Amino acid sequence: MPEEILMTSQAFFCQECLANLESRYLVHRLWEASDRDALIEKVAPNIRVVVTEGWAPADLQGKFPKLALIASHGVGYDGVDVGAAQERKIAVTNTPGVLDDAVADLTVGLLIAVTRGMVVGDQYVRNGEWLKANMPLTSHLRGRQAGILGLGRIGIAIAHRLKAFGITINYHNRRQRSDVSYNYFSSLTEMADQVDFLILSCVGGEATKKIVNRQVLEKLGSDGVLINISRGSVVDEDDLVACLQEGKLGGAGLDVFTNEPKVPESLLHMPQVVLQPHVGSATLQTRIAMGQLVVDNVDAYYANKPLLTPVPAV
Ligand code: 8YV
Repeated sequence: MPEEILMTSQAFFCQECLANLESRYLVHRLWEASDRDALIEKVAPNIRVVVTEGWAPADLQGKFPKLALIASHGVGYDGVDVGAAQERKIAVTNTPGVLDDAVADLTVGLLIAVTRGMVVGDQYVRNGEWLKANMPLTSHLRGRQAGILGLGRIGIAIAHRLKAFGITINYHNRRQRSDVSYNYFSSLTEMADQVDFLILSCVGGEATKKIVNRQVLEKLGSDGVLINISRGSVVDEDDLVACLQEGKLGGAGLDVFTNEPKVPESLLHMPQVVLQPHVGSATLQTRIAMGQLVVDNVDAYYANKPLLTPVPAV
């Protein structure tokens, strides 16, 4: 009898990786169950591994008496209650490292799209405006200041790219890093005051909830640009919308939102905003690498080998 795994959803997990998993394990597909509670109750006694896409609250964990591993797809695991898992010695893995380039590429794309008005320009051509007049000038990147909130792996990948554009890098972390020479700010608000572009690549969850609020956005200012590729929860979305409407913030490039896939109606009509449907890691190659890392962690668990990418202890 193959080992049994419960998988909670399949919104991002690549088909080949699922097929790979199913070739060796009996995967119970929670997202397809007409009665989720009934499925959980039926399989719970046999489940030692849950595969999830960033979602494993304490009450879900509590339904599986033998649960030993939560293998989460995605680098962010703010939807996994790691504290509850640790109390029961349940290991948690995520998929860091393999998506840095894809997310950093999208970040640069958003920054250029906002500062150069690329979506507006596209419409300008399509709507025949160009036949009547040239588009108004935009502003460029060289010589500007970027502030990165959260200089982890993805933040570093973003910094490398921005340096090539002649942008000065500043960052705010809980602690200063000793391995980089970028300008460190111990205060997010002070950094926002000094930079042209504020780039969010920090973790989600309670610690960062709505830390980018009106005060921070007003410091970024009427020429400033916010780029968010981390989690919608980091930004106070009402404040963001208000600051954009009032002209107190120049523009924004957003891949993530508070209530995805719902996006505030007013953002949909703002030309100074470029929107993406949470696609930072959504390249074929990256999603295969992420899915494979989940499979490798599951395999390591059943082979009694060290897990490849356990999340840090809380
Ligand atoms: C995915 C992500 O959209 O890695 C993350 O934290 O947000 C994205 O890569 C998704 O969470 C993958 O399950």
